[in-house]
Amino acid sequence: MSFNLLKGKRGIIFGALNPDSIAWKVAERAFEEGATVTLTNTPVALRMGETKKLAEKLNTEVIGADATNVEDLNNLFTQSMEVLGGKIDFVLHSIGMSPNVRKERHYSDLDYNYLDKTLDVSAVSFHKVLQTARKLDAINEWGSVVALSYVAAQRTFYGYNDMADAKALLESIARSFGYIYGRERNVRINTVSQSPTVTTAGSGVKGFDRLLDFAERMSPLGNATADECADYCITLFSDLTKKVTMQNLFNDGGFSNMGMSLRALQQYEKGLHQDCNCGPDPDDHMFD
Ligand SMILES: NC(=O)c1ccc[n+]([C@@H]2O[C@H](COP(=O)([O-])OP(=O)(O)OC[C@H]3O[C@@H](n4cnc5c(N)ncnc54)[C@H](O)[C@@H]3O)[C@@H](O)[C@H]2O)c1
Repeated sequence: MSFNLLKGKRGIIFGALNPDSIAWKVAERAFEEGATVTLTNTPVALRMGETKKLAEKLNTEVIGADATNVEDLNNLFTQSMEVLGGKIDFVLHSIGMSPNVRKERHYSDLDYNYLDKTLDVSAVSFHKVLQTARKLDAINEWGSVVALSYVAAQRTFYGYNDMADAKALLESIARSFGYIYGRERNVRINTVSQSPTVTTAGSGVKGFDRLLDFAERMSPLGNATADECADYCITLFSDLTKKVTMQNLFNDGGFSNMGMSLRALQQYEKGLHQDCNCGPDPDDHMFD
């Protein structure tokens, strides 16, 4: 159902790789709500993924950009303003990648070159996007910028590895830049902390299936889906949330405020009876 919440607004959506991507759903919802958007992703993702199909559906253009490259970002904002016919009203940063996670490096044995890459791609890129937009004065007054985060920024989650540090930095950038951009141009900047969601990036996390199940049992409202995340992002891009800024907002069915739920407890009790003589997980590292 459309409420025309974004009628006449122009947006840039980072990170729509395939139909599972959260950014894909956000782009579709933004279009439904009356916005025009450009889509962007890395050249490799554009070759391997399905971003171009989405662009056809939304009758728009894909502009390749590596979000860690300021020159690419300059080109992205300049071209998007040309294609869309004016300044930008909203931006979605939906980008995450950790070579340490991909190569299964343990958190106590990180490769620091990989860590640099994790932080640059998953967090510093957000600063680069904001700094580029501000220097070009590319975002309209009362514009809205959202980046996607995860509760591992506040609490420790097995297997999330150096992405937890990246998300903590990402949320901090939203606050620090939110102050500057808010004061100067009334642009608001927030992060949405989303439930575990089955996507290409999500599924790369060790033990993801179990994490998904645990979060589902712990959350009174259940896990938020990618579609529900898109709905929430639309409200943040709309004029209904003009004074919401510098926040990390949980879209997680209540998970982040739970300690233990009945459903999780019951599952745990079952495990205690079934697994009474189980040893360590065979694919676990000894220091996990
Ligand atoms: N899936 C989950 O469980 C979950 C939960 C909470 C938050 N998030 C966050 O949501 C966001 C989107 O992830 P997703 O789950 O939709 O997975 P996804 O794999 O569909 O999206 C990740 C995107 O990041 C892009 N990307 C990687 N490096 C890039 C770079 N250098 N420049 C530009 N783009 C780059 C990828 O091409 C891809 O499109 C990420 O920030 C992720 O951490 C995901």
